Amino acid sequence: MDYGAAPVVEGVNIEVNPGELVAILGANGAGKSSILQALAGLKRPIQGSIGLHDEYIQDLNANDIAKKGLALVPEGRQLFGELSVKDNLLIGAYSRSDQVDEEQELNDILTRFPRLNDRIDSPAGLLSGGEQQMVAVGRALMAKPSILLLDEPSLGLSPAMIGELYDALADLRDDGVTILLVDQMANLALQVADRAYVLETGQVVKSGTAEQLLSDPKLEEAYMGVN
Ligand SMILES: Nc1ncnc2c1ncn2[C@@H]1O[C@H](COP(=O)(O)OP(=O)(O)O)[C@@H](O)[C@H]1O
Ligand SMILES: [Mg+2]
Repeated sequence: MDYGAAPVVEGVNIEVNPGELVAILGANGAGKSSILQALAGLKRPIQGSIGLHDEYIQDLNANDIAKKGLALVPEGRQLFGELSVKDNLLIGAYSRSDQVDEEQELNDILTRFPRLNDRIDSPAGLLSGGEQQMVAVGRALMAKPSILLLDEPSLGLSPAMIGELYDALADLRDDGVTILLVDQMANLALQVADRAYVLETGQVVKSGTAEQLLSDPKLEEAYMGVN
């Protein structure tokens, strides 16, 4: 991965098994978003390969990658602020090649995020940050992805909303949804993750189970203090 000059991510090998919740941790500028964008086809790796199920996808465009079941919830959510919550959610179903039962999916998402029920006809831009993040996650889930990528979902949210959102992520993991999660709040991410990779200036410097990393004194010094 590069931005025209030197690579910003190099030699990174990340694996997510079906049903796992894996986190990528690291400071601002470490390359976390670059990795998610490369996986989603929004940026192209200059070297290396990306596998999804049993095929390589590094040469596919973002649309085709979405059709193959990878959904990215981008940093900053990127909803259509003028459109209703319902329309934002329905947009998520369009990236799916096979038929999705929209009503069924919509109901499932409103069950996961019950506070969206009252807001379903409101313009998404009028919702609180936490509610918007729930819409963004819901939109991604509408496509019934086989892997869900989340970029800094807790950014800018109140502690109460972060709690609610992370409870929903834990429920998704318990329901067998495969998730790759990026969050600067390492403590938070490690509470729901099975495993994690720690990224420093574009390289993986540590990886292990959430328990291993939570009890790692070096990691605590480097990342936990800022939460
Ligand atoms: N559009 C861009 N143009 C040039 N450099 C960029 C761009 N986006 C990110 N970078 C640089 O790439 C590195 C990794 O950024 P990023 O993947 O956004 O990190 P993170 O998500 O971990 O904060 C940083 O040094 C950042 O300054
Ligand atoms: Mg980022």
